[in-house]
Amino acid sequence: MKISASTKLLLLGAFARLARCTADKCASLGSQLSIPDTQVITYSYETNGTVLPLLGTVASCGGPDPSAVITADICRVVLLVATSSSSEVQLEAWLPDSDVWNSRLLATGTGGIGGCIDYPTMQNGAALGFASFGMNAGHNGSTGFEFFLNRPEVLNDFGYRSLHVEASVGTQVVEQYYGASSTKKYYAGCSTGGRQGFQNAHLYPDDFDGLLLGSPGVNWLRIVASKGILAHRIGWPNLDSPAYVRPEQWPAIVAEQIRQLDPLDGVTDGIIDEPTRHRFDPQTLACGTGLLNATLCLTPQQVISVRKAYEPVADSSGHVVYPAFDLGANTNVFSANQQNGIAKLSYTTLQDFWRGAVYNDSAWTPENFSTADMDFALAANPGQVNAWDTDLSEFHRRGGKIISYHGRNDETVTSALSEWFYSDVQSNTNLTLEETQAFYRLFFIPGMHHCGGGPGAWSIGNAQRYPYDQVLLDPSHNALLALIDWVENSRTPETLIGTKYLDDVVGGQDVSQRSKSYPPSISSSISLINSHLAHCPYPSVSKQDHGDPKLATGWKCASSEN
Ligand SMILES: *[C@@H]1O[C@H](CO)[C@@H](O)[C@H](O)[C@H]1NC(C)=O
Ligand SMILES: *[C@@H]1O[C@H](CO)[C@@H](O)[C@H](O)[C@H]1NC(C)=O
Ligand SMILES: *[C@@H]1O[C@H](CO)[C@@H](O)[C@H](O)[C@H]1NC(C)=O
Ligand SMILES: *[C@@H]1O[C@H](CO)[C@@H](O)[C@H](O)[C@H]1NC(C)=O
Ligand SMILES: *[C@@H]1O[C@H](CO)[C@@H](O)[C@H](O)[C@H]1NC(C)=O
Ligand SMILES: *[C@@H]1O[C@H](CO)[C@@H](O)[C@H](O)[C@H]1NC(C)=O
Repeated sequence: MKISASTKLLLLGAFARLARCTADKCASLGSQLSIPDTQVITYSYETNGTVLPLLGTVASCGGPDPSAVITADICRVVLLVATSSSSEVQLEAWLPDSDVWNSRLLATGTGGIGGCIDYPTMQNGAALGFASFGMNAGHNGSTGFEFFLNRPEVLNDFGYRSLHVEASVGTQVVEQYYGASSTKKYYAGCSTGGRQGFQNAHLYPDDFDGLLLGSPGVNWLRIVASKGILAHRIGWPNLDSPAYVRPEQWPAIVAEQIRQLDPLDGVTDGIIDEPTRHRFDPQTLACGTGLLNATLCLTPQQVISVRKAYEPVADSSGHVVYPAFDLGANTNVFSANQQNGIAKLSYTTLQDFWRGAVYNDSAWTPENFSTADMDFALAANPGQVNAWDTDLSEFHRRGGKIISYHGRNDETVTSALSEWFYSDVQSNTNLTLEETQAFYRLFFIPGMHHCGGGPGAWSIGNAQRYPYDQVLLDPSHNALLALIDWVENSRTPETLIGTKYLDDVVGGQDVSQRSKSYPPSISSSISLINSHLAHCPYPSVSKQDHGDPKLATGWKCASSEN
């Protein structure tokens, strides 16, 4: 059919009126929004494809010229919510046009000690039609300590309050814009975002119907403290001490762990599938064994240091409080510990948080960090940041669902922490394993780093990563869609299929060899392996089956013992 020029004009006129109409609607929301303690900073109608400069964003939230990609025609509203007389949470809403809105709300969290709105997840959310929200957790910035110094209410926002504020203000924004409530409310976050989600499920079980929680930083203070404790175990800050293991030795140590332990899971692919099931004996890397050359091999004192680096963390009274570092993971969080020959951790969160929130001392440095400093922080628990909130019975009772995932190569949050958490939720919620799995599923992802990346088949529609693979936008491959399917259609996610892309360009070419980035010593021994891999709900694990290992069907879920 040929459309006449006059019909075209009519249609264009109609589109223009529609656009004007939604822009007007956005303007009236911006000027008339009425929510207690909430003030509109700015609002604008933005069209799909626009690259939006994020003016005024602090440097640690995205460099000199950050921008976001607008992924649908949206009404964008930036809000400031007073949470006390001395604190405020900045929120941002992306509201797709009514005819594109999928009737759902998606909230997002932050990472590290941030301070930074999660635009990647909001971009994914708006593209799917969610009314999408972001927040700054009560302060701007992902490094620094000044925002916490002498500011207990700002700490409360970061510790436990900001996500609840986002959920309740977000709910009201949706009602005032669309004139209807969202049918379901979801949350997606990773790392600190994972912590925020679990804590929220315990404290405010009515806020969300479904939670997607990656690499969760539960037990947050101990996670951060462990970096200082492990640095000490390897001789830091005495760079001249015979026990000090030098930064250049670590890649060789980790490569040897992979070489020795990876084949034990049945497939030699550069990935230690279950690091917690193995022990690594650093004596094999001692000088004289011949595995490492004279530059890299370990002296007897260094053997002891490396052994201690992989032991769990205990508190001052000897109770183990944090699991051992993941074998096969990059050690930089504790081994990148000198700059120009001076002892200094590259990992800054420890110094920032203890300066600003724990000791109220702008000059404090972690060179003498000990378990006493960890225990002191735990006792004070600034902002109640250290949630180990494992009674999720109320969230469970009202039918909420949780999909959690955790890379087995996590350099930041030791993956075994999620196992501990899972068991504690089960026991503190008084449920059997089956009952727990009916509302909370934990998927370990072998070879995934913190929140994403790594040699494993890690891409599963991860929180904080944009874009989603448009071809694999289905509940089998995308964890957010799997969560929706579970909440709304009662379809339980039996597996999540992960994909490994060439150079980790999501949506780019799938690779049949899991990674090109293995240490040279082992790359020659890697067999060609799957790009899609079915990840299984804990405690089951993914084992190679008889099928084609390049396909998810070449894998099956089995108990970890088999
Ligand atoms: C936004 O634009 C892209 C590129 O043209 C298109 O593929 C997508 O469907 C649009 N999204 C929405 C929600 O309109
Ligand atoms: C964070 O930055 C925004 C501007 O992007 C500003 O309106 C807000 O007051 C800042 N919040 C704090 C706590 O400094
Ligand atoms: C932090 O230290 C400053 C100056 O040393 C002091 O005035 C303030 O009261 C302290 N704040 C807290 C919360 O202890
Ligand atoms: C030791 O091995 C490393 C890594 O393979 C290499 O870079 C270095 O040159 C070697 N040193 C000696 C003395 O052979
Ligand atoms: C660490 O402790 C030593 C010995 O008590 C002391 O000399 C040094 O000043 C301390 N360093 C820091 C950074 O606190
Ligand atoms: C679990 O059971 C114990 C012992 O029966 C009880 O004390 C506790 O309150 C229960 N917890 C929950 C969350 O139901």
